[in-house]
Amino acid sequence: MANDQEKEAAARASLQFVKDGHVVGLGTGSTAAYFIRLLGEKVKNGMRVRGIPTSDRSRELAESLGIPLTTLDECQEIAVTVDGADEVDPQLRLIKGGGGAMLREKIVASATKQLVIVADATKQVPVLGKFPLPVEVIQFAQALVAKRITALGAKVSVRLNGDGTPYVTDERNHILDCRFGQIADADVLARQLSEMPGVVEHGLFIRMASVVLFARGSEIVELRR
Ligand code: 5RP
Repeated sequence: MANDQEKEAAARASLQFVKDGHVVGLGTGSTAAYFIRLLGEKVKNGMRVRGIPTSDRSRELAESLGIPLTTLDECQEIAVTVDGADEVDPQLRLIKGGGGAMLREKIVASATKQLVIVADATKQVPVLGKFPLPVEVIQFAQALVAKRITALGAKVSVRLNGDGTPYVTDERNHILDCRFGQIADADVLARQLSEMPGVVEHGLFIRMASVVLFARGSEIVELRR
């Protein structure tokens, strides 16, 4: 599929940001998984890095490829993180969390010098919000938070697994997928959500991405903040 080729091409282009000796944040999702596999090849060929995964599944993938790992307990400064996104606007603000990992992703991003986002061209949007904004909530507060986000104008649904049970994150929380349509002011919404008791984290990443690499066919477009 064209999208998969673009995802792999963007992931390949991100390798230029990873240098020998780096601590590297390992994102989550299908595009980040391409990056982790490519990094695994580099490690096999002698590159020395230590990875900090942003989800249990990225950790399992990295382990299976022999990428040495570390943790935020051991190391709080990450040179570069490579991660995907669900939407990117012209100011490089992101919606993340389609893969349900935005809590650890945002924590790792916040400890990272250079957050490199890799994406196929479909993720580039003029205004955020077509993709439902994921909001991670503690289970106790789920209904209350859903009501408050609905009052902000969104259609809210609890993310479910294929069998109809609620999706549970790596940190044992639930996710509310919030359909706002076009988000008029992402900075204000980010603040409103962060201030809501019961919200653990939301998928708006503001002023976090340093570089976005979009693959459009065989061309790579690099945007910097
Ligand atoms: C996971 C994410 C992913 O990076 C995002 O959903 C993009 O995924 P993909 O690369 O599979 O399109 O935020 O929480």
